[in-house]
Amino acid sequence: MIRADAIATERTVEKLLIEGGRPLRGRLRVAGGKNSSLAIIAAAALAPDHSVLENVPRCRDVLTLLDILRALGMAAEFTGPGRLELDARRLTDHVAPYELCRQMRASIYVTGMLLGRLGRAEVPLPGGCVIGSRPVDFHIRGFETLGAQVVTQHGFLKAYAPRLTPATFYVPRSSVGTTINMMLASSRIPGVTVLQNAAREPEIVDTAVLLSLLGVHIRGAGTSTIMIEGSGDLHGATYTIIPDRIEAGTYLIAGAATHGDVVIVDMISEHITALLTKLTEAGATVDADPTGIRVRAETGLRGVEVDTAPYPGFATDLHPQLAALLTMAAGRSAIRETIFEKRFGYADELRRMGADIRVEGDTVTMTGVPTLSGAPVEAMDLRAGAAMVVAALEARGSTEITGLENIDRGYEGLEQKLRSLGARIQRIPA
Ligand code: UD1
Repeated sequence: MIRADAIATERTVEKLLIEGGRPLRGRLRVAGGKNSSLAIIAAAALAPDHSVLENVPRCRDVLTLLDILRALGMAAEFTGPGRLELDARRLTDHVAPYELCRQMRASIYVTGMLLGRLGRAEVPLPGGCVIGSRPVDFHIRGFETLGAQVVTQHGFLKAYAPRLTPATFYVPRSSVGTTINMMLASSRIPGVTVLQNAAREPEIVDTAVLLSLLGVHIRGAGTSTIMIEGSGDLHGATYTIIPDRIEAGTYLIAGAATHGDVVIVDMISEHITALLTKLTEAGATVDADPTGIRVRAETGLRGVEVDTAPYPGFATDLHPQLAALLTMAAGRSAIRETIFEKRFGYADELRRMGADIRVEGDTVTMTGVPTLSGAPVEAMDLRAGAAMVVAALEARGSTEITGLENIDRGYEGLEQKLRSLGARIQRIPA
């Protein structure tokens, strides 16, 4: 028997309703990179000046970061589509609010920025996360290498450094966040800081370009050795964020999964080469040139094997979406996850839609089924939510997705974009 309070809960939850089984066809421009924007907005706050950023997505993570920075004294306003005006002249507070920081992992960038800008930072620890434990020990070690005293106390990461000193730091596991945070913390230190084993993601390069426009001398971004010669005299800049490679990858996967024909215009195709290679191997037709990327899949796809890896390897942030596609690819597929140990929150949900899917250790295996069937499912985290959308689009019948606050963290205008490709998708308000 269904209880009355269960019905009431059902009615109060916002949902995406998707009628699947229609090929996606058309052209699309994706938003600016979410992860780039988070790093670049924090970087812009290093300069006590105005900056203008173009192509910033209005997704929830970006809005949350802006609220954190406002609480510290920065002014931030969207003054046009994707155009964000920042004024960091009055950023004087070094204690970040708990309620906002706990909502997102990237609030940790506020620590590096505050340390660089004010020489002190008190930022709530971002805490665990459904895709893995995600500690911040590498960040702490990095700040200490620059001469900061760092303690964790009452749930806060407290860092203090009357004077930071340049240093050489080996970034463990090529961590993206640690690389960014060290770039932020060292950008105002005179002298050269060297990051070895730095992450090479495009978002690192994007952040380095913005920092150089602010007045930082920075070399080697995009390689595993980055040299940062900081300056105490940074000034504002105007900059356009790169397109979001994960958003682009999500729509291309959805296009192939529905046997459609999707073009992402103005995309930097080399940012998703590893995905395009796997889609080709699975039987899709991929055309990439400087104007954009086209992915078509007229016939059924076949299974592939993938290991996630730091850039330029296959992005962990595209793993769940590819898994959704592979549930209907002929034969056996496997994805080995090497970055986040608990990234498999989507697997049980896909099984509810009829997928033959199994997680063992760090690997998920799938045997292709002829079709998925629509079902009520939940977006367990951001990219797991994107996987639910891909699965719903390729499934027969209608799927209801809840947990939209996770999807909204990283996708701007998801329904409008998918509708422009012919999807039947509707957001049912709470
Ligand atoms: C960033 C991205 C995220 C992406 C990930 C890997 C942002 C805002 N987020 O996350 O979307 O999935 O890169 O490409 O850009 N680790 C530690 N200790 C630390 C830091 C990291 O053990 O102090 C571990 C992590 O748990 C993980 C690995 O190192 O296993 C790499 O993580 P990292 O590259 O730092 O990911 P994020 O920066 O959190």
